[in-house]
Amino acid sequence: MKFFIDTANVNEIREVNEWGVLAGVTTNPSLVAKEGRDFEETLKEIIDIVDGPISAEVISLDAEGMIEEGEKLASLSKNIVIKVPMTIEGLKAVKYFTKKKIKTNVTLVFSATQALLAARAGATYVSPFLGRLDDISHEGLQLIKDISQIFSVHNIETEIISASVRHPLHVVECAKMGADIATIPYKIFKQMVQHPLTDIGIERFLADWEKAQQK
Ligand code: E4P
Repeated sequence: MKFFIDTANVNEIREVNEWGVLAGVTTNPSLVAKEGRDFEETLKEIIDIVDGPISAEVISLDAEGMIEEGEKLASLSKNIVIKVPMTIEGLKAVKYFTKKKIKTNVTLVFSATQALLAARAGATYVSPFLGRLDDISHEGLQLIKDISQIFSVHNIETEIISASVRHPLHVVECAKMGADIATIPYKIFKQMVQHPLTDIGIERFLADWEKAQQK
């Protein structure tokens, strides 16, 4: 399973990219709004940092508008992936972008039927939202498992991005269930690195080393 970072904050992207673990970036309108910066300017900076797929979401609700916005965003770099919502209009836009060889990420996927439809329209990625399903007492991880099984049985090449990831255990379970990618917020990346026994181990090694030097 590959790791994308789910943020529009360039400092967070720069830092995790330096760790050598980052395969791509996902943004959404809420994440971009949180940064209070110009969208295109932000995307250009991200493009300069990460050499991998960068999802940029359209705001229009009709296919025509999505296509217009998407083409403009896609012209920024070959790495831009057009993120469209899982609606009928979104599917039409995905069909168009697929013909034009522009990559797409169908977002706000909450059922296996939606994922299958998006894949059949030609989506490069589908993004099932784990945490938001958990929030309403539906098991988000079961959705990842179902989509993963369906795509594997039918040899569907669309990649599954586990989205709305809320804690490190989500990451572990998504990996076990066969998600291709997890898009992870910065805070969770930091949590994934930490283990108290690692810290204790380093402390002990250093203390033993110091002791030996004094002999
Ligand atoms: C995915 O592409 C979305 O940007 C994101 O994972 C949504 O997560 P949230 O439910 O925590 O807002």
